[in-house]
Amino acid sequence: MAESSTQENVGEDNVASVVVLVTGGCGYVGTHTVVRLLEQNVQVVVVDNVAWTTEGTEDSKPKSLQRVEELTGKAVAFHNIDISNGDALEKIFDSYRFDCVIHLAALKSVGDSCRLPLDYYRNNVAGTVTLLEVMKSHQVKKLVFSSSATVYGEPQYLPINEEHVTGQKVTNPYGRTKYFIEEILRDLCTSDPEWSAICLRYFNPVGAHPSGRIGEDPAGVPCNLMPYVAQVAVGRRPKLAVYGNDYPTPDGTGIRDYIHIMDLAEGHWAATKKILQNGSKGSWLAYNLGLGRGYSVLDVVKCFESVSGRSIAVDFVCRRDGDVASSYSDCSLASSQLDWKASRTLTDMCTDMWRWQSINPNGYQSN
Ligand code: UFG
Repeated sequence: MAESSTQENVGEDNVASVVVLVTGGCGYVGTHTVVRLLEQNVQVVVVDNVAWTTEGTEDSKPKSLQRVEELTGKAVAFHNIDISNGDALEKIFDSYRFDCVIHLAALKSVGDSCRLPLDYYRNNVAGTVTLLEVMKSHQVKKLVFSSSATVYGEPQYLPINEEHVTGQKVTNPYGRTKYFIEEILRDLCTSDPEWSAICLRYFNPVGAHPSGRIGEDPAGVPCNLMPYVAQVAVGRRPKLAVYGNDYPTPDGTGIRDYIHIMDLAEGHWAATKKILQNGSKGSWLAYNLGLGRGYSVLDVVKCFESVSGRSIAVDFVCRRDGDVASSYSDCSLASSQLDWKASRTLTDMCTDMWRWQSINPNGYQSN
């Protein structure tokens, strides 16, 4: 059994003894977060059902995790299981003494969630309950949860801070799974002061590790803007459909708060440090993770053209159902309480995204 930290206050000096379970550690947010944890000498164990990632080769690790190990020179214990499989999870928890769990495993397609709501509720909500039950039976009661700005629904005001109402006018089942899980965690922390949970409400994560070795590898046609733009730039798709140019925004296209995936990974590390400190015991906390400013679809297209030197053909089409005109964050709470602030610019996001896409035109299948 791996030893865990017995110290209540975990600072920069004693993280080497910390053991963290990362669910969904093979995915886009997971790989970048695992790199950040390994850089801090945290011992990382990953569970993932590798549903959306390329299967491994020689050591049966998915390629994304092999790349993480190459980048960091450190090993990651990997278990190919689904979080809905309570028996398999029990065995993992019997084998390690975790200090906390970073829970990222989830289905995440807004469109699929509208067609297959039960799959989303079973995987995301019921899977989380299973994970929490296993954590409880092993006295592991600290969780960092991958939430989303989607819990705010249609913004009532901008920038959105954490006081904004959640759960109202959430337009799809995927978003509701995030909201329901936040509420489950809130109830759990209220019921038992030994629990603590930090919900990280991501705005729009984009970009890639600056090495170009890990990045986002969407299955099929990308639903999100930046991966689609990158695939047009690299020649995999002919043109971008811009969903609406009649929004009440300066250029008529939708405005979002894009955050570099490396900044997001650092946000997970900041939250992990906080939850490992005694002070967060018995608390349910939620933080926005964004850049704190908005860019339009056309801002992103222009920036990507400039860093890639490729032109991106666009077609203006009608608005996409469920989209809002503008969404961007107020991240001052994370700045004051987590000592975290996103620092990478839109140019950094596009540059790193382009490096990943051009070196790996077909994602992890490329080489
Ligand atoms: N867009 C296009 N064309 C595309 C894709 C997107 O014009 O092919 C536009 C959208 O209309 C929107 C902007 O680009 O104005 C960003 O769209 P994304 O799909 O990249 O991101 P969303 O803000 O719609 O979705 C993100 C996350 C979801 C989350 C949602 C709400 O990807 O997981 O924020 O917080 F649910």
